[in-house]
Amino acid sequence: MIVAAGPASRELASKVGAQLSIRVMPVEFKHFSDGESYIRFPDELKDEVVVVVQSTYPPQDVHLTQLFLMLDAARDLGSRLVVAVVPYLAYMRQDKRFRSGEAVSVGTVAKLVEASGAGRFITFDLHGKNISNLFRIPAENLSATRVLGEYLSKLSLRNPYFFAPDVGTARFAEAVASVLGAESAFFEKQRDRVTGQIVTATKSVDVKGRDAVIVDDIVSTGSTVVSAARILREQGAKDIYVACTHPLLLGDARLKLEEAGVKTIVGTDCVASKVSVVSVASVVAESLRKLM
Ligand code: R5P
Repeated sequence: MIVAAGPASRELASKVGAQLSIRVMPVEFKHFSDGESYIRFPDELKDEVVVVVQSTYPPQDVHLTQLFLMLDAARDLGSRLVVAVVPYLAYMRQDKRFRSGEAVSVGTVAKLVEASGAGRFITFDLHGKNISNLFRIPAENLSATRVLGEYLSKLSLRNPYFFAPDVGTARFAEAVASVLGAESAFFEKQRDRVTGQIVTATKSVDVKGRDAVIVDDIVSTGSTVVSAARILREQGAKDIYVACTHPLLLGDARLKLEEAGVKTIVGTDCVASKVSVVSVASVVAESLRKLM
């Protein structure tokens, strides 16, 4: 088995290779002057199980194109099996037709991953729960909640209370809280499908004098977390932490979170960012061991 380190996930790929004590091959890449992507595998792939590690956070269309080129080339170069490890799956939030006539974008991405030559697929904390509806190849939706919980358990939080900013992510908050033996709750959020405006319903919670941890799968513009943090601050939470699998943190999201009173943001290397202090390498390695 060889790990092919895609341009978007170099460090994570190295860590996965180190966990499994197998070779890591940095895939060569460049952009032509018109913006098109170039990919080259510097080593022989014939008869190998090739694990392509490439997340597809922004610029997602570039990262997706690189992924498709790597999967197709790996298959074409004679590998025995191509495993796509795509920790952040771009377009995962467009997983149904919310308004008539919309593209179900994540379905299209899944079809392209398969058509490009992946024989297995691994991702993390997919927004919708049911990955088997998306892929015909064996596909796993792993979770970063254990490693996030383990990291948070070392921070000496004061009687922490975990919160999901909406019902859809309640299971993430509960899973992270359970690592620390702490309690969790969820808020109810509404997002205007056209303007993107977020409204979180106020809910009375016993958070006075305690540290609060807002757990979400994705922090993108930060609006969802800011809205939940405001309620927690009003109700007397001490320090507010944010833990998420996919810290996209677009534009001034970090500043918005800081201004809303968030002390620390803890993210994973599913998305390479300044707050990606938790690695999911051990979780990926555990899954790949089954193929060795
Ligand atoms: C949506 O329901 C997700 O779980 C996240 O809460 C959402 O994607 C976060 O987006 P933003 O940071 O832009 O509010």
